[in-house]
Amino acid sequence: MTGPHTGAEERGDPELGAAQIAEPGAVTIVVPTFNESGNIRELLRRITESVPSRLPCEVLFVDDSTDDTPEVIAGAAQDCPFPVTVIRRETPDGGLGGAVVEGLRGAGSDWIVVMDADLQHPPALVPDLVAEGERTNADLVVASRYIRGGSREGLAGGYRVAVSRTATWLTKALFPRALRGISDPMSGFFAIRRGAVKGAVADGALKPLGYKILLELAVRCRPGTVAEVAFVFRERYAGESKSTPREGIRFLKHLSGLRTSSPLARMLAFGLIGLTGFLPNLVALYLLTRAGMHYLPAEVVANQFGVVWNFLLIEVLLFRDRRGHRHWADRVGRFALLANADLLLRIPLIALFVGWLGLAVLPATGLALLLTFVLRFAATEALVYLPRKGGAPRSSRRSRVRGPRQNS
Ligand code: GDD
Ligand code: MN
Repeated sequence: MTGPHTGAEERGDPELGAAQIAEPGAVTIVVPTFNESGNIRELLRRITESVPSRLPCEVLFVDDSTDDTPEVIAGAAQDCPFPVTVIRRETPDGGLGGAVVEGLRGAGSDWIVVMDADLQHPPALVPDLVAEGERTNADLVVASRYIRGGSREGLAGGYRVAVSRTATWLTKALFPRALRGISDPMSGFFAIRRGAVKGAVADGALKPLGYKILLELAVRCRPGTVAEVAFVFRERYAGESKSTPREGIRFLKHLSGLRTSSPLARMLAFGLIGLTGFLPNLVALYLLTRAGMHYLPAEVVANQFGVVWNFLLIEVLLFRDRRGHRHWADRVGRFALLANADLLLRIPLIALFVGWLGLAVLPATGLALLLTFVLRFAATEALVYLPRKGGAPRSSRRSRVRGPRQNS
């Protein structure tokens, strides 16, 4: 980059200038921002006040704002004694969680602290989180509202509290092992060693959806030792929460996506969904025969209701992130074909087991059901939702905004 330019210096690569490389043991504070212009100055002021004297730091904002937050950051950064960088994302993929992953990718220090911009997370705790990690040799240190000394006084309203509590309980029940030792898996404030996330970030294994990025990291990166530090979740300093009811739906999708990331778990979920398909199937059969249709064609038609039901559930709950490979009509067609082929294949299979292997009708039927189920699951994965190689290119711009102004 040559010649005089004004404002922020743009960088196409994450490499930092030699003088600015963070020392080992230093921390990169990753702050996702979406329209937080009213909080930036105070946030940077409080970080300046409490962090650099105890721990070398740099701040990396990952911004999806539609307001003037990036300009406010660029202005406020001039007064900071540490490097400040902004990554502007062109598309806000994955929302808050996607922004944090982008920050993890761009961070250069041994420790990364993720925190919100609205001062609900006290900056003074940043050095404590890292110190606790060093002391206990942990990979992950969670700032928790649910241990002694912590509280969620800033969580607005009984409704938010109830939702948060239910979500925490459900999540802990679904992931007892990955979340052992984490009392607050919904926390958005934590420190993690870069070494613990580097692999997953490079492989593109992280697919966060919305707010619960800590859950994603705990489940997919399986950090070794985990420690916790209590904190008080305060009121927002300025602006309002970006969390909407839609975030709740995203969270449920995220949970089911995480829970079904292993093939065995996926097959189980596929089977359970298949079982629920009996319901629309039987209801349709009942209605059609009552309307006077002969039971044989009614069987065939009713089966399609089960197929459509299963298809919708599988699309939403199981293959959410694999739908993009084919057009939806193509997916419905293939799915329906496989589901009906399954029905056709079962009869000759049963005949085969009974006639050639000498099995009784019941075990033969059971075996055929099992076999066609496994075949159908494998075929559905391979023929309807097969992931293609290579993802869509990401686009983001990175600007170093701290330091002497560039214009002369
Ligand atoms: N880049 C980016 N993109 N940042 C976002 C986005 C987005 O789509 N959505 C929200 N943010 C940023 C906000 O600007 C803020 O800095 C931070 O993420 C948290 O957003 P809030 O809207 O303030 O979230 P909250 O207070 O409701 O929820 C927080 O507390 C929860 C605990 O109850 C978050 O930390 C949650 O992760 C946490 O579970
Ligand atoms: Mn907040």
